[in-house]
Amino acid sequence: MYLPTYYEFANPGKILSGRYALENIASEFRLLGSSRALVLSDRILEKLGQVKVLTDALVSGGMKVVKVYTDIPADSSIEVVNHIATLYREANADSIVALGGGSVIDTAKGVRMLVSQGGSDLMRFTGMEVLPQGRHVPFAAVPTTSGTGSEATVVAVIKDDERHVKMEFVSQFVLPDLAVLDERFTLSMPAKVTAMTGLDALTHAIEAYSCLQKNPVSQCYATAAIRLIRENLPTCVAKPSDRHARLAMANGSLLAGSAFSNSMVGIVHAIGHSLGGVCRVPHGLAMAILLPHCMRFNLDKCAEDYAEILQYMVAPEDYVAVSASSRAQRCVEAVDDFASSVAQAAGLSLHLSDNGVTKDVFSDVAERAVNDGSLIVNPKATSKEDVLRILEAAF
Ligand SMILES: [Fe+2]
Repeated sequence: MYLPTYYEFANPGKILSGRYALENIASEFRLLGSSRALVLSDRILEKLGQVKVLTDALVSGGMKVVKVYTDIPADSSIEVVNHIATLYREANADSIVALGGGSVIDTAKGVRMLVSQGGSDLMRFTGMEVLPQGRHVPFAAVPTTSGTGSEATVVAVIKDDERHVKMEFVSQFVLPDLAVLDERFTLSMPAKVTAMTGLDALTHAIEAYSCLQKNPVSQCYATAAIRLIRENLPTCVAKPSDRHARLAMANGSLLAGSAFSNSMVGIVHAIGHSLGGVCRVPHGLAMAILLPHCMRFNLDKCAEDYAEILQYMVAPEDYVAVSASSRAQRCVEAVDDFASSVAQAAGLSLHLSDNGVTKDVFSDVAERAVNDGSLIVNPKATSKEDVLRILEAAF
């Protein structure tokens, strides 16, 4: 097994998964010395009654919910973070619980960073490579989608409205103390969102397993994630109320998030970021479209890793039937088949042409992709022409 000369791995503090996970947040926070929670979420979750499920569980465990803030937009910003940090201080809160998708959790990470460090503007911390912890503010993240893995990553992506750019704040101190997985919050996710976010998680796991910064621990998390996703994502799309499959997907997403947080991603994310920026293709959909094509491109450099991944992508009897020399190629086909069947069941097309992308933007997309940070750790050097060929194949 591959072992780098040096690597680091930071875990989420503690995983609470399944029955009673929500109820146990209060006792875990008590151990961390806090009892006054600021709860962050969004308007839709409030309307669906999900915020109340969370606050009831906190109160029944003995916490005081000193403030509930649900005005977090889908694309949160530095201004929102600064505003919430003021509310945190005014309410004399001593801990944060975030319930939502990537935007809510990333906003909460920003608020936590700001109240830990002190000050009133998150922008002060941009570009700071090494940030000390500051005051410890207990923080629990409860994801309501199974894809971003934000509850287990060291990154917070927050928009700077003034300059119209997305800022990345990277620090091990944005990792939540508690990653709380309760399938009740994902049961109402529509099939299309379930499919897109689930295939994003699969991409995190496959890129984390095979990129240049891979390490034995992230590979271990990645293979567990791939298996959970392969076994449960189709069920979540076909039978949304299946609680076991939903909880398994929440676990797969968290494990994939932790894997890529500790090893990075690669070409699929590089091109996906540019497609999102230029054509507004949703992130998970871009991943689903690009993953098989990019694996085909990387195949000669990733043969060993892909051959290994095949074990987790197909049933044991199918794996043993494939000769050693064909496993890598078979893995790409298995991922392609899997993504296609999940997408088809959810009513998604995996062609760029069906998703609002026209060929006249290819050059711009490719130019941005080769300058994207995710490409630095891709196992195969990639030129603009390579990206253009991949876009053409995905059209
Ligand atoms: Fe992603």
